[in-house]
Amino acid sequence: MSDVEPLFPAPCSEPPAPSSSPLADEVRTGLQKTPKRLSSRFFYDAEGSRLFQEIMHAPEYYLTRSEYEILDAHKADYLKQFTPDGRPFELVELGAGDGLKTKILLGFFADKNADFTYAPVDISVDALDELVVDLRQKWPDLRLNPRHDDYFNALEQLSEESDARRVVLFLGSNIGNFSPDDALDFYRQLHNRLQPGDLVLTGFDLQKHPAVIHAAYNDRQGLTRAFNLNLLRRINQELDANFDLAAFDHYEVYNPETGEARSYLVSQKAQTVQIAALDMTVPFQYGEIIHTEISRKFTRAQIEQLAQQTGFSLVGWFTDCKGYFADVVFER
Ligand code: AVJ
Repeated sequence: MSDVEPLFPAPCSEPPAPSSSPLADEVRTGLQKTPKRLSSRFFYDAEGSRLFQEIMHAPEYYLTRSEYEILDAHKADYLKQFTPDGRPFELVELGAGDGLKTKILLGFFADKNADFTYAPVDISVDALDELVVDLRQKWPDLRLNPRHDDYFNALEQLSEESDARRVVLFLGSNIGNFSPDDALDFYRQLHNRLQPGDLVLTGFDLQKHPAVIHAAYNDRQGLTRAFNLNLLRRINQELDANFDLAAFDHYEVYNPETGEARSYLVSQKAQTVQIAALDMTVPFQYGEIIHTEISRKFTRAQIEQLAQQTGFSLVGWFTDCKGYFADVVFER
């Protein structure tokens, strides 16, 4: 073989190889399913994270305010539970986001000179960087150990041994996005990773009047709608697709029998979408849906069963005054 240039080189305009990334894989497989589906895991690009912050301030989205009320009212109870004897502990927060609610605990723990490290984990670098800057400024002495990762990797990275008691925070009803099987797997993994005596504090959204739940995912300002549609905008941007956002609608159902709030995108006409980076053409019928999210609502009995099936004991149950939300402590 020589290194002489071939006389007839391949044309320069060869199409690029189809992309591979978590989003690309999800879109390729999800849009070929019947019914079509895309996971809510992909909502949180920079714009999606920004829209979720706005949702947390919407009057209909009670979850954040309820949880804030609980953490504020019970911060002393939590501290006592995390460290009854004043021994050091490590607070590992999965999906820290902007840490708005956690700051209530951090501020109180710092005031009480509690001996602890805060280890926030988030998939959004932007959110994590902002959080760290803010925390360093508010509490220069706070021991911080941030990690940019998804929950499951972060769990695997938890060192097998640690002298400090570990307290895992999983707030905001993020658990509601898991299927029942995934929730069981999640707590079983936690059980494997943690030591006896370690704790998990989870925020669960509780079942309540269906109209209250439905409104929380169908706010009048259209923030949830924009949040859901942003997934299509993200696909346009990252996978060179041509979704016409005006030709899709947001639709929400809450089924009080299953406790599932489900979000859909609905095609408002028969149309064909091109996704250039995947070399893919996706047909939509009029009224066809893409299922994008499940936000599960729990009963106390289900939460007790979840603890029991995964080897934890339920050692703390705290709700807001309306009984909308619960921040629950499991002990390994
Ligand atoms: C961040 C998963 C808790 O399910 O309530 C808000 C996301 N979706 N509005 C939720 C969300 C639509 C939220 N979680």
